[in-house]
Amino acid sequence: MRLYSGRLVKRLLVFLVLFVAAYGLGRLVVVWSDSQFAGVRAPYLQSMASDGVTLRWHSREAYRGVVRYGTAPDALVHSQAELGAVTDHHVRLEGLAPGTRYYYSVGNAHETAYGGPDYWFVTALPWPAEQAADPVRLWVTGDAGQPGKDQLAVAGAARDWSRAHRRASPLPFDAWLTTGDNAYRSGSMAQFQAALFEPFADLLRNVPIWPAYGNHDARRRAFFRLFDFPRRGEAGGLPSGSEHYFAFDHGPVHVVMLDSQDGELAPDSEMLDWLQRDLRANRRPWVIAVFHHPPYTRGSHDSDSRRDSGGRMVRVRERLVPLLERLGVDLVLSGHSHMYERSHLLACHYGDSASWRPGLALQRPADFVYRKRRAGVMPPGGGLDGTIYAVVGSSSRLDDGPLDHPAMAVSRHAMGSLVIDVTAGALTARFVERDGRIGDRFRILKGQAQAPAPLQQCPPAS
Ligand SMILES: [Fe+2]
Repeated sequence: MRLYSGRLVKRLLVFLVLFVAAYGLGRLVVVWSDSQFAGVRAPYLQSMASDGVTLRWHSREAYRGVVRYGTAPDALVHSQAELGAVTDHHVRLEGLAPGTRYYYSVGNAHETAYGGPDYWFVTALPWPAEQAADPVRLWVTGDAGQPGKDQLAVAGAARDWSRAHRRASPLPFDAWLTTGDNAYRSGSMAQFQAALFEPFADLLRNVPIWPAYGNHDARRRAFFRLFDFPRRGEAGGLPSGSEHYFAFDHGPVHVVMLDSQDGELAPDSEMLDWLQRDLRANRRPWVIAVFHHPPYTRGSHDSDSRRDSGGRMVRVRERLVPLLERLGVDLVLSGHSHMYERSHLLACHYGDSASWRPGLALQRPADFVYRKRRAGVMPPGGGLDGTIYAVVGSSSRLDDGPLDHPAMAVSRHAMGSLVIDVTAGALTARFVERDGRIGDRFRILKGQAQAPAPLQQCPPAS
C-alpha cells in the first residue's frame, strides 16, 4: 500500500512539473509572439531635441530607409540613410537648428512611403531663449490605452482647446507626455497599433511622444522596442545610460521620466543616483517628473495600501518624493488610478492619508495661483517650496473610487487630459474634460517676492 502511494506521489509530482513547464513555455511563446510586428506603421518622432530627432516607422518589406528633410515642403535638400535593409526603421537626424520647422519624407532610395505638406516637425526650443517665445505647450494623457470613442473624445477635446487658444507655433502641442498604460491590456504590438499608432498617426507625425512605462505596458516586450529614449543625454540632461529613466529639455522645461514599474527605488539605486546628479546639474527653471505610480491617490487605486500594486505607490512616496521635493521638482505627473486628482502645493507628506496634516499644504489660494519666491531652478540646499502632484489616469477609462485623499485640492470623476503651458515665469495647467469643460486650472508663478520663504526642514509630526 505504501509502495503504491509512493508511486502515485511521484507520478503526481512529474505531472505537476510537466504542467508548470508547459505553462511557462506557453507563456513565453505568447509574450514572444505578441512582441513581434509584421505590419505597417506610419512615421513617429522620438527623442526630440533642439538639434536632433529620431524618426521611426515600420514597413512590410525590408529596405534601407532614407529620410529627406528641409525647411520648405518642396525643398527636402538634406537626407539621412540607414546602414542596411530593415523593416523597423530608426533614423536619427542631427545638426538641426533649434525651434525650427522641418518638413520630411521617409522611404527608400527609390520611393517615398510617407511625405507631403503634412509631414513636419519643430525642433525643441533652446534655453535661455533669445527672445520671448510662445509658451511651451505639453499635452499629458494617462492610462489612454483603451481604443474607442472615449479615448478619441478626450483627445479631440484637448486638440479643440489648443486650436481655440492658438500660439504662434503651428503645433497643437510641443510634446505629448503619457503617464503610462499606453496599450491595454497587455502592451502587445497589436494593442499599441490599435490604441496609439493607428488612431493618432496624424498627431504622431508632428508631435514627439514621451510615454511613461506602466504596469500594463510591462506585460509584453513591445514597449522598449517601439520607443527610442535618449539614454545618452541627446535631448538634454545628464546621460542616464538607461531607457528606463532619462531627461529631456524643451525651452524653460526640464522633464525627468522615471520607471516606477520595474525601477529600483533604493536610495543607492542607479536610477535615484542619476536623478540626483541630473537635477543638481539642471539649469532650466521648471522641473516636471513623470512616472506611472502616484504617491497620493484614493481613486481606483489606493496609495495607502502596501498591497496595492505591489507596494509601488508607498515606495514612491517614501523613497522618491523626498528627493523630488529637495531637488526642486515643481510638478509630478502620474496615472494608474483611472480618474483625475491634483494636490495642493505641498511638502513633507511621506505617510499614508491618515498622516496628512493641513499644514503640509504650503499655500491654499482660492484661485489656485501658487507663488514661489525663487525665479528659476532650486539651488542645492535651497529648501522646500512645494510640489504639485497630479494623477492623470482617465484619458480612455474611468473607474470608481472614493476620491477623498486629503492632500488633493481637486478630485474629478471625469475623463480628460492635461494641457500645460509653460513660460519662464509661469506654469499653467488645465484639465480638459471629455466634453471640453475645464475641470481644473492651476498656475505656479516664480520670482514672486511676496511668496513664502522655502522651508529649510519638514515640520515635526505633532
Ligand atoms: Fe496602471
